[in-house]
Amino acid sequence: MSKSRTSYVCQACGAVYQRWQGKCDACNEWNSILEEAAVSGQSAPLQGGARLKKGKVFKLEGLSGAAHDAPRLPSGIDELDRVTGGGFVRGSVILLGGEPGIGKSTLLIQAAAALARTGQRCIYISGEEAAAQVRLRAQRLGLNDAPVELASETSVEDILATLSVGGAPRLVIIDSIQTMWTDVIDAAPGTVTQVRASAQALIRYAKASGAAVILVGHVTKDGQIAGPRVVEHMVDAVMSFEGDSGHQFRLLRAVKNRYGATDEVGVFEMTSSGLAEVANPSALFLAGRDPRHSGTAVFAGMEGTRPLLCEIQALVTQSGLPTPRRAVVGWDQNRLSMVLAVLEAHGGIRLGQHDVYLNVAGGLKILEPAADLAVAAALLSSLSGNPLPADTVYFGEISLSGAVRPVTHSGIRLKEAKKLGFRRGVLAEAGSEQIETHGTDATALRRIADLVAELAVGALNRQQRARAVESSSRDR
Ligand code: TYD
Ligand code: MG
Repeated sequence: MSKSRTSYVCQACGAVYQRWQGKCDACNEWNSILEEAAVSGQSAPLQGGARLKKGKVFKLEGLSGAAHDAPRLPSGIDELDRVTGGGFVRGSVILLGGEPGIGKSTLLIQAAAALARTGQRCIYISGEEAAAQVRLRAQRLGLNDAPVELASETSVEDILATLSVGGAPRLVIIDSIQTMWTDVIDAAPGTVTQVRASAQALIRYAKASGAAVILVGHVTKDGQIAGPRVVEHMVDAVMSFEGDSGHQFRLLRAVKNRYGATDEVGVFEMTSSGLAEVANPSALFLAGRDPRHSGTAVFAGMEGTRPLLCEIQALVTQSGLPTPRRAVVGWDQNRLSMVLAVLEAHGGIRLGQHDVYLNVAGGLKILEPAADLAVAAALLSSLSGNPLPADTVYFGEISLSGAVRPVTHSGIRLKEAKKLGFRRGVLAEAGSEQIETHGTDATALRRIADLVAELAVGALNRQQRARAVESSSRDR
């Protein structure tokens, strides 16, 4: 056994200190530092041998003639395969993060079942539930005919021993890494040192056996993968499973992927019979929309390479408070402040005495600056009380100078809008001549003031039209 001594490790970020302190200097977290027995040379005790072994060196140019992709195991769940880049890569390790109860275990048991049905050996190891509980859940999901092997185990050494029995597994799921512990380390399960050492042993197993290993990691409320943040750089891919428990849909995002793109998103819906794939997410997010109300705008967004239409809702009301309220759900608070400031400075719209609420319908979180224009349109519509035209989508970035700036994938956004029955897109003028409009009517704007004018004229026209219809029906 190697020499062990005590060190103090931050449970939030993994920073190591010689003595205890109340606040971690690295991540500024309070009360996150715990005493742990550090082991010098973490991999050494496993074999005990100090013999030096010569490694093999490969030449890049000499590696086989034809380029071929990493050998993959498609799970058969398209939304999952889209995020992994076409299936799990053999010998790779994926960390799947997500809040407790979001559906990580459900997704993985479904993936394991789908893969096992194609004749691949899949093992699901739960450190949180008894094997009988996992089986019960699988039964409820209608997966009881799938030959997935289940085990309830928390000791890494026992798990590795279990895995060595029988044929080599193709997929191993560890649910969750926070419950795992290894004999080598003298620290409680869930501590950074334990999590790191357990992950290291499992990663070594994946590389040696060629099995794809998925580690489940719970996420704290601020979105960090607790403890396993230190694992993030050790694994090949990090995916996060998002959504909120108040809504039924879930997004699977690749945060890091050594074998694929990181901008892909898989969309699922949590149903009573498990997670269902959502092939047309725009229809889901626009369901139940009523375009007759003011304060809502449809944003033609992108999630990775896929267009996603969603509704942005704004409420602007006279404020009775000395400092008006600004509340945002699903978008960036700073970005809203910026759009409000630009509307005021360059659009001549006074919002200093108004409370402003902004919400992205369906519990979706938008990260794109392209939503600026749709947000501005929703705000203006709520302020004026005039509904926006029902057949129009908005996208474009707004700069501090008041200019409307072009965003990527305009053609794809318009195509999706057309598919869902929209006829018009409002977007930035710059570069708009080259955009394929897919039969939609593209309205190009140069400045935020153009949007203000456009909405005012539109509202006036609609009012006039309504008045004309009213008077003609009176005359008859
Ligand atoms: P779970 O996969 O246990 O979450 P995690 O592993 O991320 O903690 O999912 C638990 C939630 O999913 C639970 O609140 C109930 C819901 N659920 C359904 O709505 N339908 C189902 O078929 C299943 C299995 C779970
Ligand atoms: Mg779980």
